[in-house]
Amino acid sequence: MTITSPLPDELRADVAKASRMLIGAEWVEAASGQTLDVFDPSTGAVVAQSAAGGAAEVDRAVAAARAALHGPWSKVTPIQRGRMITRLAELVEQNAEQLARLESLDVGMPIMEARYIDVPFSVDILHYYAGWPTKITGDTIPVSFPHNFGGPYHAYTRREPVGVVAAIIPWNLPLMMAVKKLAPALATGNTIVVKPAEQTPLVMARLAELVLEAGIPEGVVNYVTGLGEAAGAALVNHPGVNKVTFTGSVETGKAIARAATGTLKRVSLELGGKSPHIIFDDADLERSIVSAGMAIFAGQGESCIAGSRLYAQRGVYEEVLAGLAERASSIRLGPGLDDTTEMGPLVSAEHRDKVVGYLDLSKQEGRVVAGGEAWGDQGYFVQPTVVTDLRPDSRVLREEIFGPVLSVVPFDTEEEVTALANATDYGLGAGVWTKDVGRAHRMAASIESGQVWVNCYQAVDAALPFGGYKQSGWGRETCKESLDDFLELKTVVVHL
Ligand code: NAI
Ligand code: MG
Repeated sequence: MTITSPLPDELRADVAKASRMLIGAEWVEAASGQTLDVFDPSTGAVVAQSAAGGAAEVDRAVAAARAALHGPWSKVTPIQRGRMITRLAELVEQNAEQLARLESLDVGMPIMEARYIDVPFSVDILHYYAGWPTKITGDTIPVSFPHNFGGPYHAYTRREPVGVVAAIIPWNLPLMMAVKKLAPALATGNTIVVKPAEQTPLVMARLAELVLEAGIPEGVVNYVTGLGEAAGAALVNHPGVNKVTFTGSVETGKAIARAATGTLKRVSLELGGKSPHIIFDDADLERSIVSAGMAIFAGQGESCIAGSRLYAQRGVYEEVLAGLAERASSIRLGPGLDDTTEMGPLVSAEHRDKVVGYLDLSKQEGRVVAGGEAWGDQGYFVQPTVVTDLRPDSRVLREEIFGPVLSVVPFDTEEEVTALANATDYGLGAGVWTKDVGRAHRMAASIESGQVWVNCYQAVDAALPFGGYKQSGWGRETCKESLDDFLELKTVVVHL
């Protein structure tokens, strides 16, 4: 297909880079010559063609990563490694506006969110991990077996990189998701092959250029674009890959975990959610309503921690419902690149159709009090939607929609809402609004999820563990514990 959309001039050159991938020091097109269309979700027009990489490119990228692992990268000292990651953070910051615009064009997210969330948080994550290389240490361990060869012994542990890491990235925050995986992999001395989502390949080309500019040796970071079932599956099955780190859907996460058993690769998974947001009668209503709106409508609801199930205690339920309906109706939709846009389009026609299916279901299973329709005459927009009067077993209330669709449910007691909050296979985020300190801590302890936010929501930080209970995933990102996923532990015993 030919390119049909007029592009902002300043993005033209960067968008054109989507046709190539970085393998070692080489920028290459797919050997098959095949490409995939990249769409502007605000118009549905094709803005670029990305390389449709597959098994052949994955083979080459893994070979480049392995050569770098045992070659130049193994000679880089911890301080040098930290400096390179710091340099990358600085370069991302210096190119912030360009990266934000690429993200906004590619994903559809409002440029404001790319500017103030996606890019700055990526910079923070890089700075956080830049401090780690010099602090990754083993232990000296006293042992009690002098009988073997008559002792004495000196025993210690070493932390070594797992090797070649495959990072499979979703489309909702492509820059931040890539950085979340790159930064710990680099800090721990691994090499990496990144596979961006086929819907959103644009930002990776620019990030890869910055990686090289930061002085990170060639072959340490490679990326292959292409379909999940082609490039993604080839990485997961490749015997030269030691670990897969994935963010995306539960279904694909399970498929990856199954495929990885073939070679017993390590797998870490950040998957979906159906996160409960709970407002008690005694809460600061104004703030909690604003927060509940942002929790579901920010990023078009295409967020794994979207607060998609809102539980309001009976005394405030009507006011909360009305407040959210009003917020939903006042949100300004528009193209991501427009400075005044508050909510952009969904990422793709396919995803828009899926979300519209849930809008239709909302009308059957419950009562829609705001939104409920697709929006506009072009692009993949849907209205911010609020639905209530849903049965506990309704699909709208149980399934991850990954769009701006909020279910509001009344409750009476703390016990009741705890049971409702936990009645899900997911366990990623949760919000609790109350002024009762005892209740806040009881709820924090009893909710089964990786993070609980009290009197706030979506409060994430590069130093805080992020990850899921139950089917929301395996492992944690952005915290010191995340390093363990990228490190082997070796025991050395020396007979003195
Ligand atoms: P997906 O989970 O299938 O795709 C995410 C990444 O995995 C992409 O890079 C894709 O190419 C890759 N992939 C797909 N199949 C693969 C395979 N067999 N082996 C290796 N890699 C593979 O998500 P998709 O299809 O884009 O969206 C489906 C639904 O998933 C969405 O409607 C949404 O509900 C959910 N989702 C959740 C995300 C989250 O952050 N929790 C992010 C993206 C989607
Ligand atoms: Mg999929």
